[in-house]
Amino acid sequence: MKIIKFLLIVFFISMSNNITSIADEAKMKKGLEIFNETAACAACHILKAAGSEGNIGPNLDTVSMTIESVTDMVTNGLGVMPAFGEGEMLTKEEIEIVSYYVVNAAGK
Ligand code: HEC
Repeated sequence: MKIIKFLLIVFFISMSNNITSIADEAKMKKGLEIFNETAACAACHILKAAGSEGNIGPNLDTVSMTIESVTDMVTNGLGVMPAFGEGEMLTKEEIEIVSYYVVNAAGK
């Protein structure tokens, strides 16, 4: 019985890892779509992983950032950088997803 319990635990742990990585993949895919299409971040920013070559804002492959700093920047904007949180240009969820994407795609 002990071995069966052990195997069940291993099985559930590996399942939950798969679910997490499927969710991560979906988030990266959705984030890329927001970056290139919905919000057109690509028009202003270089991000090699997204194939973007915009030259109005900083090169996102070379700046240091955290999910929090990107979320803050995308929500509130700064100078030429639009405030996507205003007038719900992007929803809170979309901002969270694109920020996750940018931080995880940068420098790759
Ligand atoms: C109209 C052009 C434009 C668009 C569209 C745009 N940005 Fe920006 N972004 C800028 C500019 C310009 C800055 C620099 C702001 C400053 O420092 O004055 C900036 C700054 C940033 C920074 C901070 C970089 C640093 O130096 O730490 C991040 C992160 C960022 N943008 C991400 C995004 C994301 C993600 C999107 C899409 C949701 C986006 N930007 C859309 C122009 C743009």
